[in-house]
Amino acid sequence: MKEKAKYDKNAFEMLGGVEGARALADCFYDTMASMPEAQNIRAMHPNDLVPTCEKFALFLCGWLGGPPLYKEKYGPLDLTGLHALFKIGEAEKNMWLLCMEQALEKQMIDDELKNYLLERFRIPAEKIHNWCQQQKLQPVGPTSQLKG
Ligand code: HEM
Repeated sequence: MKEKAKYDKNAFEMLGGVEGARALADCFYDTMASMPEAQNIRAMHPNDLVPTCEKFALFLCGWLGGPPLYKEKYGPLDLTGLHALFKIGEAEKNMWLLCMEQALEKQMIDDELKNYLLERFRIPAEKIHNWCQQQKLQPVGPTSQLKG
């Protein structure tokens, strides 16, 4: 619990500030692009990953307790709504988290911080996944108006 409180306050600094967030974002998308088994999620992204990677790096800064660089540049982000466009099932969620785990390992982030970050990432990943599942279950079109 004490460790968690430590990272809740300092995760941004412990990751290495803006440079650390950028390095993690770069490594994450490089990992996604190079893992054959991650092509299911790579294919959801544009060919050019640079703008997505830049946005993700800025997002990470604010999300980990650093300066709100994404919000300053692009405004507030509805993380779940943004991802609702995509079909994110269990396999896609798990692959995203695996790419992140590998990126954290490649960045040689120590185990304690790595585990803390993976737990943090798991929360929005689950929310996104659950939201996408719910969307799939909603009846769409005129049949949703039918009763009985
Ligand atoms: C659960 C699995 C996930 C999948 C399959 C996924 C996939 C995607 C895709 C396809 C895009 C759009 C890329 C583009 O058009 O540029 C995107 C953007 C983004 N994702 Fe995810 N994502 C996932 C989880 C997450 C999580 C857990 C976070 C945050 C912790 C996150 C943060 C972002 C951000 C910040 C952007 C860019 C926002 C923007 O375009 O302004 N994603 N993601």
